[in-house]
Amino acid sequence: MSILSQGAEQVAPIDLIIDTDPGADDVVALLLAMASPEELNIRAITTVAGNVRLEKTSRNARLAREWGGREDIAVYAGATRPLLRTPVYAADIHGEEGLPGVAVYEPNQGLAKGCAVEYLVETLSNAKPQSITLAMLGPQTNLALALIQAPKIVRGIKQVIVMGGAHFNGGNITPVAEFNLFADPEAAEAVLSSGVKLTYLPLDVTHKVLTSDARLRQLATVDNQASKRVVGILDAYGRPDMQRYGIPGGPVHDASVIAYLIRPALFSGRQIYMQVDSRKGLTYGQTIADWHGVLGQPANVLWIDSADAQGFFDLLSARLARLK
Ligand code: BDR
Ligand code: CA
Repeated sequence: MSILSQGAEQVAPIDLIIDTDPGADDVVALLLAMASPEELNIRAITTVAGNVRLEKTSRNARLAREWGGREDIAVYAGATRPLLRTPVYAADIHGEEGLPGVAVYEPNQGLAKGCAVEYLVETLSNAKPQSITLAMLGPQTNLALALIQAPKIVRGIKQVIVMGGAHFNGGNITPVAEFNLFADPEAAEAVLSSGVKLTYLPLDVTHKVLTSDARLRQLATVDNQASKRVVGILDAYGRPDMQRYGIPGGPVHDASVIAYLIRPALFSGRQIYMQVDSRKGLTYGQTIADWHGVLGQPANVLWIDSADAQGFFDLLSARLARLK
């Protein structure tokens, strides 16, 4: 829907639910989203176990909400574990509290009453057709459970934007799998097979949007509490990945999903056919992305593979300057 104002066309903000497992980069994504009310109307934040256990991802989501000055946004806690597999966490990258490089404490405000899965079922069942966008920043367990419980909710979904998967340069938790897909491959499959409109931002793109000393200085120049926290988080979060994968800077994975929603022109990709490998074995959780269309199957995702990295950091700096 669009509205006309003073002769110029203005696009109405995207009705957005953010499903997340904070998580260092999740917190950066949440801050970017909360600083962008013209483009994003955040209906709720739903949390899932992933980088760390659910109590901690939910606490960190509530902290991010407090830091963003948006305690009006409800945070619903969701699945404590993946659909079928043994839980896997990423405390080695995100720290025991799930949030490195910054002081973590109990936020003022608690969780919303009720479970994230129930919230999704109810909200999407009652939504106008194709009206709600979901940003999936962790394992896709909550949305998969909602779709299994009430398949008709597909109707209320406009699009689902996933941070996850890897094709060109391998994975970050196994040689071929990316963490969010590996942490719940069956959930990713359930979402993929539901027929929702899907966009994937895999490691292929997020490993091209990296911090550098100059970019961390750019963020630090904003010089408010939000930017200080983001610099602390990204500095600490980037180090293990830089050492392990030999990349020249640290990633900001999940924030790319939010940047994509705000400024899609910063990104490019291709409509392709993709499948998730859920067979137990070395390729468990791998995304098979048919980039060249050799399988002759109809496309089922928009697979983003490149981005204007400096444009991303310019956007992040400008938006953080709006926060306290
Ligand atoms: C993804 O896995 C998590 O550790 C990050 O928060 C991000 O969502 C990157 O592979
Ligand atoms: Ca995440």
